[in-house]
Amino acid sequence: MNIPGPEPRSDGGAGAVAAAGGLHTYQLQLHAAYGPVVRFQLPGAGTAVSIADPVLLEATAHLDERPARLFAFLEPLCEAGNLQVIPAEEHAPWRQLLLSVLAGRPSHERHFAQFTALATALADRWAERAGRAPVALQKDLAALSLRMICGYALGGDVADPDAVIAAFEEVLTSRLEQPQGVPASDAQEGRAERAARAARAEAALARLRATVDEVIGAHHSGGRTDRSDLIGALVEAGERPARIRDTVMVTMLAAHHTTGVAVSWTLYLLGRHPEVAEKVAEELDRVLGERAVPDYADLRRLRYLEMTLKEAMRLYPPGPYGARETSEPLHLGDYEIPAGTTVFYPFWAVHMNPDYWPEPEKFLPERFTPEEVAKRPRLAHIPFGLGPRSCEGAALAMVEAELTLAVLLKRFRFRPVPGHEVTPVERFVLWAADDIRMDVSVRG
Ligand code: HEM
Repeated sequence: MNIPGPEPRSDGGAGAVAAAGGLHTYQLQLHAAYGPVVRFQLPGAGTAVSIADPVLLEATAHLDERPARLFAFLEPLCEAGNLQVIPAEEHAPWRQLLLSVLAGRPSHERHFAQFTALATALADRWAERAGRAPVALQKDLAALSLRMICGYALGGDVADPDAVIAAFEEVLTSRLEQPQGVPASDAQEGRAERAARAARAEAALARLRATVDEVIGAHHSGGRTDRSDLIGALVEAGERPARIRDTVMVTMLAAHHTTGVAVSWTLYLLGRHPEVAEKVAEELDRVLGERAVPDYADLRRLRYLEMTLKEAMRLYPPGPYGARETSEPLHLGDYEIPAGTTVFYPFWAVHMNPDYWPEPEKFLPERFTPEEVAKRPRLAHIPFGLGPRSCEGAALAMVEAELTLAVLLKRFRFRPVPGHEVTPVERFVLWAADDIRMDVSVRG
């Protein structure tokens, strides 16, 4: 059977994606028009097959390759091979190593106090604005999660974390946003300015790598290593310094915008749904009592908060799509997909599939009670992707996001700024075009 989809165009699909406002919205349109399996032109990857049905997705859950061309923009960050597309035999042990640190309770507990201090410092700054001027959620929360992951990835022993963060931001703006055409100013930028920017990015990348090397050096000269330390675990496993440097860069990149926007979209939804925010606040008062911040062990008891975060990541998945490549023919329901096909994962369209999510536009954290979850297929909710290339940082991200939400929602109420429009666009992640501005008031 032929897979349905729009007629191919000579521009390779770029026009249709642009007309829809980006791939994030194009995927919703495609699946609304053609059903759960769609063939379409994915710019840069020829013809792709997109699957928005969680049961059919199971047939792809073993796929262990990403289409290299789509991830080539990450190459400048990697010295020892682009970690997004390294071959499966090299990827599997690296993944196991990463999971042994990122998914483990020892590392979450070890960094919890530092994460709490950072979240509290942000709350203190917001308290000064409360009742006076709105806060820009996305900007402040992306900065917070970058600070958290910087401390985490580098083990907290770095002399000048602010310099590391500034260097990382320089690299991101200059080396990664450019190929995707993000900064509008770039078109007007002259050759000399471009060259100067590239040189600054190169220098910043060199500084970052030197910082990682210092941490590696400290480990070699008898520094403490345990299962909670990312660089320590990589050193102990005998990974090459270049691979360790790459891992730190990729971890920081994958971790900070994603976690930051997960929290800001959650606060956005809570601001628009005071009745849900009230329930979250009641739970926080019940579990924390007079305490301003949770302990690590409290997170397990903040069930409704966790359900709220999951529902927010359903409605606004921070990473709205992913991709794989088939190395053999694949049976997909009534269809057969040849080897070498790009499989597109439309995470957002999966989350909005009305067959599994009645009234998908509604914000209903109750969808995530254990009873409701048990009624749905496993892959109906996939903000962290699926299969052997899914997000290794999922458990850590949940800890960071729940902690941050708990600190902020124990202390504040959020209300939308009247007239401020919030539009999701794609900028590595599902990003609000003009930030998310909210009025903040201190809870009585
Ligand atoms: C709410 C926060 C986050 C979200 C929604 C998120 C989501 C994702 C998604 C959708 C992918 C691609 C998965 C796929 O292709 O199936 C991914 C990959 C990845 N994420 Fe996350 N992520 C988050 C936070 C983090 C954090 C905190 C870390 C690390 C500390 C991290 C590390 C990674 C890495 C290393 C990959 C590449 C996976 C691989 O190729 O093996 N992420 N993430």
